[in-house]
Amino acid sequence: MPPAPDLAPTLGRPPFSTTTQRPTTTQRSTTTQRSTTKGHAMTPPWTPPSSAPSVSPTMFRHTLGRWATGVAIITAATPDGPVGMTVTSFSSISLEPPLVGFFAASSSSTWPSIESAGGYVVNVLGDDQHHLCGAFAQRAEDRFTDVGWSPARTGAPVLEGVLAWMDCELHQTVGMGDHVLAVGKVIDAGVDGPARGPLLWYQRGTGALRPHRV
Ligand SMILES: Cc1cc2nc3c(=O)[nH]c(=O)nc-3n(C[C@H](O)[C@H](O)[C@H](O)COP(=O)(O)O)c2cc1C
Repeated sequence: MPPAPDLAPTLGRPPFSTTTQRPTTTQRSTTTQRSTTKGHAMTPPWTPPSSAPSVSPTMFRHTLGRWATGVAIITAATPDGPVGMTVTSFSSISLEPPLVGFFAASSSSTWPSIESAGGYVVNVLGDDQHHLCGAFAQRAEDRFTDVGWSPARTGAPVLEGVLAWMDCELHQTVGMGDHVLAVGKVIDAGVDGPARGPLLWYQRGTGALRPHRV
């Protein structure tokens, strides 16, 4: 299917570089458009550009901000007590075996504790729990003040009233750029919190789902 007219890239002709520009009133960026002819990779004489253009950090963040996600609190049990951090990078990975994961910033002071614990709980927040999203993202001494919880099989906290939770054994870690992918094998799960919509994260703010009427 041809691209929608307003999104059609301005393509150079090989061997010239091919670029897509999506200007807004305030932002501009240049990204590489992979050259294809009717879906087939082009053969020589086309050659890839010697130095790939890179997206600016501002445009990268701006673009990622258009990706809506749910919000989860990753918790773990440590000898010094429970730890937890807000993440939006949670993803399901595999059904068989049941694997999920999230990306922890290498700079996170909480991640080493989660890694040492060898397991974690993914707490999926409901749309009335935006206060937990903020509380577990700030550098606070005790993020669990005034937060009710009970231990899962790994000992990691299941926060009171969450929409859903998954108890995971740490299965694999993979360093990628400035983050670490923490893959967990799900050993227990529950959806015992009150039924309501999920908390969403979009363009640096929280919100609630507004379902379409069907
Ligand atoms: C909505 C939201 C999503 C976040 N997602 C992630 C994430 O996916 N991975 C991550 O490492 N940090 C994420 N953070 C940042 C951490 O929650 C927070 O900065 C971090 O826990 C700082 O404390 P720490 O040094 O104890 O980790 C997110 C923060 C917010 C507010």
